[in-house]
Amino acid sequence: MKVFLIGYMGSGKSTVGRKLAERLGMAFLDFDEFIERKTGKTISRIFESQGESGFRALEHQYLREILGTEDVVISLGGGTPCFNNNMELINTSGTSVYIETGVDTLAGRLIKAKRKRPLIQGMDETELRSFIKTNLEKREPFYRQAQYSVSAGSLNVEQMADAIAALLR
Ligand code: S3P
Repeated sequence: MKVFLIGYMGSGKSTVGRKLAERLGMAFLDFDEFIERKTGKTISRIFESQGESGFRALEHQYLREILGTEDVVISLGGGTPCFNNNMELINTSGTSVYIETGVDTLAGRLIKAKRKRPLIQGMDETELRSFIKTNLEKREPFYRQAQYSVSAGSLNVEQMADAIAALLR
């Protein structure tokens, strides 16, 4: 079994993914970290040197590389499902779960966590909120192709992991 967690930046994919993997007795892989290990560069550096399109090409290449892995929970990058036909690859190779999170929650989290995220670096609160709103609207059609959706709402990490584990049972 292979479980992909998808959702916007700041939706908690990595934190929930770690917890979920523990619950299911599976390995955990953070896809951004995997790309950083493989390239020996941070995500920000890749954006700086190769631009977003260069990053998307690498992301696609490394996604293909991890598709052969089994018994793993994988937290993907926020944009991974939305480019290069990746969502189709994801759905044909494993089970996908969309962590649905509202704009206000995302903005509140991301304002404190912009530094490592090149797409939103340097934005003030107003710019960030409006960017998230527009960008999320573009991305939702991809996220909605996930086999399962979990609404984060007021659930904490433990409760999210429980809710997803219950869906997968
Ligand atoms: C991105 C999300 C990031 C990372 C890159 C681009 C995006 O991952 O892959 O900065 O396009 O939403 P997280 O969702 O883990 O922050």
